[in-house]
Amino acid sequence: MEKVSVSFTLNGEPVTIEVPTTWNLLKVLRECFELNGAKEGCGVGECGCCTVIVDGDAVNSCIYPIPEIEGRSVLSVEGISGTDGGLHPLQKAFLENNAVQCGFCTSGMIMSAKALLDKNPEPTEDEIRTGISGNFCRCTGYVQIVEAIEMAAKNKEGNF
Ligand code: FES
Ligand code: FES
Repeated sequence: MEKVSVSFTLNGEPVTIEVPTTWNLLKVLRECFELNGAKEGCGVGECGCCTVIVDGDAVNSCIYPIPEIEGRSVLSVEGISGTDGGLHPLQKAFLENNAVQCGFCTSGMIMSAKALLDKNPEPTEDEIRTGISGNFCRCTGYVQIVEAIEMAAKNKEGNF
């Protein structure tokens, strides 16, 4: 099987891997780095469970071809934290608002929300709903998730 060597930044650290050219970013995160926060739901770019941030944008890692990651900066849910090194304000807000039930969508939701708040620190409810429109949740009904993102925007501690 043809392989490709790619170098990129992962959660702030430079990394180099050699994997089959057909692998996607999600498979690399989970199988090469044991970063299991991003989940495979649909595997075809429709559910958002696999969302990570690449060069500041939320992407579906399940359809991100690994050769295209060369030289880029990848942030997964394992790479975010609060200013005290503990939970990120979004993670705290999700817990406080009961925005997590089965949790399968949660890391993707949080990474989409982070990408939104990084660009738009004071989003309206409509902007939040648009920001997570590519992320499906089967459990919560979205109300708690939107409230959690609104809370995190208010309590962001300046570290988005
Ligand atoms: S698993 Fe990637 S979008 Fe569904
Ligand atoms: S908490 Fe279960 S899918 Fe969102």
